[in-house]
Amino acid sequence: MKIVHKIEEVKACIKEWRKEGLSIGFVPTMGYLHEGHESLIKRAMENDRVVVSIFVNPMQFGPKEDLASYPRDLERDSSRCMENGADLIFHPNPEEMYKEDFYTYVDMSVLTEELCGLSRPLHFRGVCTVVLKLFNIVTPDRAYFGEKDAQQLAVIKRMVTDLNVNVEIIGCPIIRESDGLAMSSRNSYLSEAERKAALILYNSIKLGKQMMKEGERDAAVLVSAMKVFIQKEPLAKIDYVKAVDAMTMRQAEKLNGTVLIAMAVYIGKTRLIDNFTFKCEEGG
Ligand code: PAF
Repeated sequence: MKIVHKIEEVKACIKEWRKEGLSIGFVPTMGYLHEGHESLIKRAMENDRVVVSIFVNPMQFGPKEDLASYPRDLERDSSRCMENGADLIFHPNPEEMYKEDFYTYVDMSVLTEELCGLSRPLHFRGVCTVVLKLFNIVTPDRAYFGEKDAQQLAVIKRMVTDLNVNVEIIGCPIIRESDGLAMSSRNSYLSEAERKAALILYNSIKLGKQMMKEGERDAAVLVSAMKVFIQKEPLAKIDYVKAVDAMTMRQAEKLNGTVLIAMAVYIGKTRLIDNFTFKCEEGG
């Protein structure tokens, strides 16, 4: 496994692989890899070669967000990539990705207007811009994203469709700790008490799923019950809990088709997200 820092080095490597007719899987990450990322790398092994990018993308952080404190550990990440069979790590610095005269952004309407897009206004512009750049550098056949970032996954699928990007986007299931907390690099911020409190997200998901299984189709009733449940946890502060159409991310009053129930909740100062998708036909 190789670690490279320059765009030209990635391109040279890809060129060699393409000459040999090899397929390429790509896992874009911001590093501090956990089992969620590992599951993406493992899935990407269905390709002949696997590239992992590790880049804490400044463009997707708001001015008051955790860019400076975002956890970083290249050594540990490299071992995890190697253990899981990755062939190449691309670890650029911000100057390599964004030259001084960088003026182009990828923006998206509709899908970015709810959920995280509301509380993080320029976040998806940063995500789309960096992901499209990475796609153009790596030119993968397939790229792998976690379903924990459900809105991000929907946005990226829409971007490659709208802009005719030649890559297949593959969503992979949320990986949870044994008690149910969704894996996230940001879990490392949690104190012991906060770690326990963070379970409220998963427990509210269990409640929401149960209600939907039992036939609840009124979004307001569902969301309100989940919010009341979360508010019982003193360390939790809700950013949002919403039920939206899984494709458009638009809010619906009556739940039908495939619905995404997504939440962002602060546990202390740490903002955690989680979600579940429900096909309404399933529950009757
Ligand atoms: O999900 C992430 O880690 C990031 O948003 C991504 C897709 C690597 C873009 O920076």
